[in-house]
Amino acid sequence: MLSRFEAIEGEAIGQIAAAKTLEELETVRLRYLSRKGELQQLLRKVGQLPVEHRPRVGEVANRVREAVQSAFDARRRELEAAEQMRILESEKIDVTMPGRIWRIGSLHPITQTINEICAIFTDLGFEVVEGPEVETEWHNFIALNMPPEHPARDEHDSFYITDQLLLRTETSAVQIMVMESRQPPIRIVSPGRVYRRDEVDRTHSHTFHQVEGLLVDEDVTFADLKGTLMTFARRFFGEDVKVRFRPHHFPFTEPSAEVDVSCLMCNGAGCPVCKHRGWVEVLGCGMVHPNVLRNVGYDIERWQGYAFGMGVERLAMLRYGIDDIRLFFENDLRFLRQFV
Ligand code: PHE
Repeated sequence: MLSRFEAIEGEAIGQIAAAKTLEELETVRLRYLSRKGELQQLLRKVGQLPVEHRPRVGEVANRVREAVQSAFDARRRELEAAEQMRILESEKIDVTMPGRIWRIGSLHPITQTINEICAIFTDLGFEVVEGPEVETEWHNFIALNMPPEHPARDEHDSFYITDQLLLRTETSAVQIMVMESRQPPIRIVSPGRVYRRDEVDRTHSHTFHQVEGLLVDEDVTFADLKGTLMTFARRFFGEDVKVRFRPHHFPFTEPSAEVDVSCLMCNGAGCPVCKHRGWVEVLGCGMVHPNVLRNVGYDIERWQGYAFGMGVERLAMLRYGIDDIRLFFENDLRFLRQFV
């Protein structure tokens, strides 16, 4: 009987070790450890042995049962742990998955161009000032030397809010606002949106942007204006750009000029962008008209000034080779993404 116990011990422990799943282990348990299992059957027979053998056999029987039981418990813990790992493995979430990509916006090409223009003038000592888009007839026309009957007002027919309030037709209105609120010396640039009742086509828009410039000081001459604008043109378009001043008329400057730069597309040879002229007009300028200085109460014997106004879309179109102004206002991302 002793050898039978030892044989069962060896068999059972061997099978327990060989069990690869909890089901296989359960089969082994049923075979040896359950009520009807071989070990229990054998244990029951110990009671039937002659009394003198019982203690010795009983001792072995108990040891064997404990050994098999503890081998079983250990193996079950192992298999349960493995099973647990398998479940965790199968439910694993890949936390390294890429997150959602946030779309990062970028500045509109017109805003970028305005920032660049203002940066150049800031370097030259000008301060950036912004004015309102809804203006008074006084700021927008009358104080700029355009009384109600002035013919220049027809060209600038605009969007009126009341008889005396309108969407500004040019940033020149800011000149008046600034001069009315300060004393010279003044050195400002003013970027912003302006409105005109224009038919929209490739080169016209009822809404567009300008950057105005105004300098008022003692002993200011046209040479100062010229030097400032040449410096600007070289910084903005490149050292090789050619600049020319053409006599022109504006009600609020005298003398006045329009400034052309050599066409960047054809380098002056003539192409569709410059309409085969080799030159492209980029801004208007002149010495501030004495009437304007008087309108804001300045002493014209002491103060002189120059002013200029440039079209931002025009400058951006030239710089980037854009042939349709409407692209700036359509919010088509295929266009805008090119300026990120
Ligand atoms: N305001 C003028 C325009 O819109 C440009 C300009 C500004 C001209 C300042 C002279 C002086 O065309």
